Amino acid sequence: MIKQKHPIGVFDSGYGGLTILKEIVAKLPAYDYIYLGDNARAPYGSRSYDTVYHYTLECVNLLFERGCELVILACNTASAKALRTIQQKDLPKIAPHKRVLGVIRPTSEIIGHLSNNGHTGILGTAGTVNSESYLLEIEKFFPHLKVSQEACPMWVPLIENNQIDNPGSDYFIELHTKALLQKDPQIDTIVLACTHYPLIVKAIQKYLPENVKLVAQGPLVANGLHDYLRRHPEMASLCTRNGEVEFFTTDDPSFFDAAASRFYGQSIQSKHVHL
Ligand code: DGL
Repeated sequence: MIKQKHPIGVFDSGYGGLTILKEIVAKLPAYDYIYLGDNARAPYGSRSYDTVYHYTLECVNLLFERGCELVILACNTASAKALRTIQQKDLPKIAPHKRVLGVIRPTSEIIGHLSNNGHTGILGTAGTVNSESYLLEIEKFFPHLKVSQEACPMWVPLIENNQIDNPGSDYFIELHTKALLQKDPQIDTIVLACTHYPLIVKAIQKYLPENVKLVAQGPLVANGLHDYLRRHPEMASLCTRNGEVEFFTTDDPSFFDAAASRFYGQSIQSKHVHL
C-alpha cells in the first residue's frame, strides 16, 4: 500500500511566502511541504475582507485536498483578514482535526524582545495595517510596547514586477519609510510585516538611521512552527517526512518559476493548479 503523503501546506497570495518557506525548510528539512501561490489573483493587499477571506479559504481547502493536515498562511494579509474566521467558523465544520496557523502571532510573540527602547514600527499592506491585527496581537504579549504602522500599497506590485532597482521604486520606499519614522522618531525596530518585503531590505535601509533594526519574519515563523510541532506531537506525527517540497501556482508555472528564485534563493519547478 502506498502511504499517503501529509505535507505541511504553505500559502501566500503570490511569491512572498517563499521567503518564509525557505526559512521553514532550513529549520525543519525532514518534513514534506506544498507551497501554493495564488498568483492569478494577487495582490491581496488592497482587497476587501470578504474577498481575501474567500480566496484564502479556497486555497486552504485545496491544500487540505492534497493531504495537508497543517497549513501555514505565509501571508500577513491573509493572516490578518481570514485566519480567525477560518479557525473559528470553517475548521470546526470542514476539518476539525486540521490546523491553520498564520504569521502574525509568531512575530508578535517575539517583537517586544527585539526592541531596546520599546518603540516598534510595522510596515505592511493596507489590508494588514487597516485590520490592526498587529496592534491587537502585540498588545497581548507586550502591553507597553509603542507600535506605529504604515501601509505601503505600492510595494508588493513593484516587487512582484521586479522593479525594485529603479528610481520609481525608491520614491515609494522612501515615502513610506520616512512616513513611519515621522509617526514615531524613536522607533528602533521595524517589522517587515509583509512576506514580500525581505526583497527590499537594502532599499529600505537607505532611509533608516543606523540604529534601526529591520526584522524579517521568516526565522520567527520557522521557530514558531518548530515550537508548535514540539508542543503538538500528535500533529507532528501526522505530517510526513520525506524531505520533499512541491510548488503550485494558480497562474502560469513558467511565470512563477522565472520569478520564484528571487524569493526562494534557488530555482524551482512549479505546477499549475485550478481552484
Ligand atoms: N505577501 C503578502 C503579505 O504578507 C501580501 C501580498 C499581497 O498584497 O498580495 O501580506
